[in-house]
Amino acid sequence: MELTEKILKLKREKKAVILAHNYQRSEVQDIADYVGDSVELSRKAMEEEDAEIIVFAAVDFMAETAAILNPSKKVLLPSTGARCPMAQMLTVDEIKRWKVLYPLVPVVLYVNTLASAKAYCDVCCTSANAVDVIDALDAETVLFGPDRNLAEYVQEKTGKTVIPIPEHGFCPTHLLFHPEEVHVLKAQYPKAVVMVHPECSAEMRRVADFIGSTSQMCRYARENPEKTFIVATEEGLLHRLRKENPDKRFILAYEGAVCPNMKLNTLERIYLALKEEKHVITVPEPIASKARKALEKMFELTGH
Ligand code: 13P
Ligand code: SF4
Repeated sequence: MELTEKILKLKREKKAVILAHNYQRSEVQDIADYVGDSVELSRKAMEEEDAEIIVFAAVDFMAETAAILNPSKKVLLPSTGARCPMAQMLTVDEIKRWKVLYPLVPVVLYVNTLASAKAYCDVCCTSANAVDVIDALDAETVLFGPDRNLAEYVQEKTGKTVIPIPEHGFCPTHLLFHPEEVHVLKAQYPKAVVMVHPECSAEMRRVADFIGSTSQMCRYARENPEKTFIVATEEGLLHRLRKENPDKRFILAYEGAVCPNMKLNTLERIYLALKEEKHVITVPEPIASKARKALEKMFELTGH
């Protein structure tokens, strides 16, 4: 039996669902029950009432979020090595240090953080709703981490003072994009629409026609009549973009933009995870309850 068939059979037998992030390998996206961005995957994890197991094909913080929002389910991360380096950049000690400096200022954390950090914030956000969350807060100044680029973008959009914590948190994959490559591609495809993830630099934001989360890019590309798109985010998204829009052309703004952590979830590892029911992601109390409050606040402020 082929590996794909074996996975689908085990999935049925064990009442499991496979949720995959937009950056997963093409073959992983193709066997998933649902492919989405981080806020969509969080919502989906809450909705999976009938499933007994959630295989979360993504990185550590996303699987942790699923475990926090769905404590009665077994959440499996196929590869223990799939860890987001940006999420490691903000420690609890660092948050405490900033809270001493700004005791009355709310702490907003990007979901790309570990559960232990989320337990120390007032509200979470994702790249899809960061602007709405901070707009909705009754505060003119916020502490925001760990992505400095997203912090700057939100500051530009909301007009509020957004203090990045730590000062220089970043995504190593999105930092690989530079406007020079976009200019070269634009010379070749003058009508191309440029889509940029907010984890990219300010210089990249300046050459963007559209800035948004991975799924927001999918929606934008579907609805935009233009035929060619230059895409500045991790290469996995291009599989979904091409699948959904076979008549359009999608060009990665920098060929080397790969998140090696996301790619650790191979079909083989997904099969083994399902078969041996490993690696179970759990979040201890009281961290889970505190982090859940911050995630629920995000849903409350954004209306879903
Ligand atoms: P999205 O929420 O846009 O999918 O982003 C998640 C992420 O890790 C970006 O690097
Ligand atoms: Fe983390 Fe960047 Fe990979 Fe997203 S692309 S999971 S932010 S390292």
